[in-house]
Amino acid sequence: MAAALQATPLKTLAISRRRVGGAGARPRRMAASFRCSAAARSYNITLLPGDGIGPEVVAVAKDVLSLAGALEGVELRFQEKLVGGSAFDATGVPLPDETLDAAKGSDAVLLGAIGGYKWDNNEKHLKPETGLLQLRAGLGVFANLRPAAVLPQLVDASTLKKEVAEGVDIMVVRELTGGIYFGKPRGFGTNDKGEDIGFNTEVYSASEIDRIARVAFEVARKRRGKLCSVDKANVLEASMLWRKRVTALASEFPDIELSHMYVDNAAMQLVRNPKQFDTIVTNNIFGDILSDEASMITGSIGMLPSASVGESGPGLFEPIHGSAPDIAGQDKANPLATILSAAMLLRYGLGEENAAKRIEAAVTETLNHGFRTGDIYSPGTTLVGCKQMGEEVLKTVESLKEVAAVN
Ligand code: IPM
Ligand code: MG
Repeated sequence: MAAALQATPLKTLAISRRRVGGAGARPRRMAASFRCSAAARSYNITLLPGDGIGPEVVAVAKDVLSLAGALEGVELRFQEKLVGGSAFDATGVPLPDETLDAAKGSDAVLLGAIGGYKWDNNEKHLKPETGLLQLRAGLGVFANLRPAAVLPQLVDASTLKKEVAEGVDIMVVRELTGGIYFGKPRGFGTNDKGEDIGFNTEVYSASEIDRIARVAFEVARKRRGKLCSVDKANVLEASMLWRKRVTALASEFPDIELSHMYVDNAAMQLVRNPKQFDTIVTNNIFGDILSDEASMITGSIGMLPSASVGESGPGLFEPIHGSAPDIAGQDKANPLATILSAAMLLRYGLGEENAAKRIEAAVTETLNHGFRTGDIYSPGTTLVGCKQMGEEVLKTVESLKEVAAVN
């Protein structure tokens, strides 16, 4: 996991952030030189626990973030805001202005999960999911990085045969603020037979494709140098343009081996021979689907983090799992995806590589010690709840004297 996650400082994305105390935006490359200075580096983090298991996993991840930060000379200040169904219940909307303003004004945002049965019948603009999409759009985080790496400790948790799953290490780069999720026209109406219809528009502009493709090429460059662009260019015009632009950009990245695949084939190849993939770049909806599929190769969706970043401003970091209302409040959730999202926040959002590595190493060590939540449990390991898993990770974060020793 560490290898997959540490692969990609996004040099192309100058993520600006403010230091508390008014020093103004500071380029990430300065972080290393501040490391040994007496003054702690200080950041404001917005926590958005959300719904279902969100509050449980975010509470655990917050403690891990604080400790790993403190051990690496990083001070993190937290403010908690409402999003999703809980925001709707409290304020009547799934993304209150106060939440978006706080998120925009902070250095990075950590989100738990949104949604639940209770709000399934809300009108569209009041659904928890709408709040999440408004947040992504509001922050302009168009590039969503979703790593899926099979850990040796969890290979038996995969539903695929061991020889197919072991060694898989994929990064899905999903376009996050365009495509059919946001395209217009959209809505409900009636057709000429008077029948009800629902419709959406898959649309991409050249610049939207170029910017996500550039991120993906850069990501591939930091990994194994292979990029597979997934589309449906045999049918969809938006995909035809996608393929044309990605192909044109390849000349800027002669060191990257670019291939193209139709999404139906990609879905099949992911379970047939997932090791053929390194970095995948795809549109919003295909990325939504393929990243869930890729996650299951690793054994549990409860393990996988994600980072969403834009050209400037704070990034949004969230586990790719949902709010799991069926187990909410029962201390059964796996907090590791959120803890690993916190590591991505430190790396991609704040440029704090050492604190990020410390967390990733602690997660690996905690798994080596045999601790498992229900979703990744196998006989012979120790079944723990969300809180205890958090405590075990905290102990390990603290006991890691030198991060380098375990990497
Ligand atoms: C995801 C989720 C969201 C999406 C939902 C909750 C709106 O499935 O982050 O993958 O479709 O993007
Ligand atoms: Mg999804």
